[in-house]
Amino acid sequence: MKHLLKMLDLEKDEIFSILNLADQLKFNQKHNIPHKHLEGKTLGMIFQKASTRTRVSFETGMYQLGGQALFLSSNDLQIGRGEPVQDTARVLSRYLDGIMIRTFAQQEVEDLAKYGSIPIINGLTDFAHPCQVLADLMTIREYKGALDTLKFCYIGDGNNMANSLAVGCLKTGMKVSLGCPKAYSPDKQVLDFAKGYGDKFELTDDIYEAAKDADVIYTDVWASMGQEKEREQRMKAFKGYCVDSKLMAVAKPDAMVMHCLPAHRGEEISEEVFESHPEIFDEAENRLHAQKAVLVKLLG
Ligand code: CP
Ligand code: NVA
Repeated sequence: MKHLLKMLDLEKDEIFSILNLADQLKFNQKHNIPHKHLEGKTLGMIFQKASTRTRVSFETGMYQLGGQALFLSSNDLQIGRGEPVQDTARVLSRYLDGIMIRTFAQQEVEDLAKYGSIPIINGLTDFAHPCQVLADLMTIREYKGALDTLKFCYIGDGNNMANSLAVGCLKTGMKVSLGCPKAYSPDKQVLDFAKGYGDKFELTDDIYEAAKDADVIYTDVWASMGQEKEREQRMKAFKGYCVDSKLMAVAKPDAMVMHCLPAHRGEEISEEVFESHPEIFDEAENRLHAQKAVLVKLLG
């Protein structure tokens, strides 16, 4: 593995190897066992969109691994004034040991990897959010022990999260059911990939069918970053696509609830369900551990 651009690029073995290392690094951190695998290394973090978890977990993760992280807001970089990504990639490759980038177009991340000569990590694009999915898989395994016996259900927008979760969960052996409005299906690349999994994959606009007997119920916002102008239209289209106690009643009694955060209570998830599932915050914590594993694999 040279980069982390999207879940479609990872082999099943690579995913489990990251999850195993993440578990070990979490153990080390909790027990104050030194794990400074990246002493002297620098990660550049380019942000074209807002972030709480991704920014803080990458920065803290690099520090805990003995390296450092540079926060590079696109407003302050020449990239924000039109310097081509090809040039930015070649220049930053001379200074840094790796780049994490959060941006809009997946192509920009792919181009950074193509023109640069250091590992590139996708910290969210409109198409994918692989760092989040690795933390999610880690969390599900922590709670449920194994992945390949589970039914995973996602409710809501067929966005970056749905795209990445469907691929990550199928690759690790789960049954996947997506409950999305017809006009908001996941990306065609993902649906084509999922076809290869036969009846282990289901896409429906009936959320109760999607959630039936699920072990994990996942949801995300109705309007993602960059879609602010579509908010009103989306509020109408997603009405009813809510993880509430009525929906939870059709899932397994011990079903987990997950959310990448930030959450909009009363929209994609009810206050009651959100507040009664503390695993959502273990999931957020695991961003740190899963990303440290990715950093060690790519920069170590
Ligand atoms: N889940 C996630 O990526 O959160 P941030 O947008 O806060 O980084
Ligand atoms: N789908 C959301 C995820 C945020 C972590 C967004 O792209 O804004």
